[in-house]
Amino acid sequence: MTHYGSFPGARPRRLRTTPAMRRMVAEHRLHPADLILPAFVREGVGAPVPISAMPGVVQHTRDTLRKAAVEAVEAGVAGIMLFGVPEEAKKDAVGSAGTDPDGILQVAIRDVRAEVGDDLVIMSDLCLDEYTDHGHCGVLDAEGRVDNDATLERYAEMAQVQADAGVHVVGPSGMMDGQVGVIRDALDQTGHEDVSILAYTAKYSSAFYGPFREAVGSSLKGDRKTYQQDPANLRESLRELALDLQEGADMVMVKPALPYLDVLAKIADAVDVPVAAYQISGEYAMVEAAAEKGWIDRDSAILETLTGIKRAGADMILTYWATEVARKLG
Ligand code: PBG
Repeated sequence: MTHYGSFPGARPRRLRTTPAMRRMVAEHRLHPADLILPAFVREGVGAPVPISAMPGVVQHTRDTLRKAAVEAVEAGVAGIMLFGVPEEAKKDAVGSAGTDPDGILQVAIRDVRAEVGDDLVIMSDLCLDEYTDHGHCGVLDAEGRVDNDATLERYAEMAQVQADAGVHVVGPSGMMDGQVGVIRDALDQTGHEDVSILAYTAKYSSAFYGPFREAVGSSLKGDRKTYQQDPANLRESLRELALDLQEGADMVMVKPALPYLDVLAKIADAVDVPVAAYQISGEYAMVEAAAEKGWIDRDSAILETLTGIKRAGADMILTYWATEVARKLG
């Protein structure tokens, strides 16, 4: 090889010359089966209600939710994560609608299961904030603090009614200590040994949940800092991970995704169970808003965020773009 002066001996650019070459050497690939669609269903509405801070996402009616589930199956999406939005009048201090067998989430689980059967992994948010009038993820004690152990009793009941309704996977997202263990026991004692737990293991107290609070009509005043993790902490998520696995989590999740890719990478390295990441409402809103202003290219930005999340170690990604992206990948 003739060298003129100091020409580089190695040229990594050779493997970037054509789209076919780049495709061949890609280390990570998104697949429709990586994706899970979070979906909201609202009680008592005749038409889907748009969520202004999440352009393109709606609070579904029972009918449009069934359609969205069918579309997800057709696109090859792996699963759907359901959130119930009850009528305002049904909210109370203990979140009764969350354990009512005819509560909106339970109805939605039955609807989706009847519509798509086992063709989609049906998951449900197991948390009280959608159903409480104060908007917290648990019940409150006399001083107005979130009462961990009283909340666990409510979660155990929720697990049972959601499983009775036919869910495949429950997703406890309230960050109460001991929630996975209590839910596992409740499921096992009621004949639901086959229902899996996707534990929200590292769930951070994040400003990026903002649009979600509109999506579920949350009445929260204040914050969730006494139960969700402090964004400053990484090591703490490994402690949460160890506890969740010990208590019986089948899969673990990091949430939000993009600001916590280091947490995701660490957890993915440490476990032998599937790892999920939740690209949350504010992450969605940021991209949609910047794209609407013409500041970024929407489609490439979406794929870049999802690829980054996968590269960091996620086996599954919850994203509001699931069906759209799955169709494109299809
Ligand atoms: C709790 C829950 C939240 C989200 C999923 N489950 C809100 C919160 O913790 O405040 C947020 C999802 C999103 O922002 O997209 N039930």
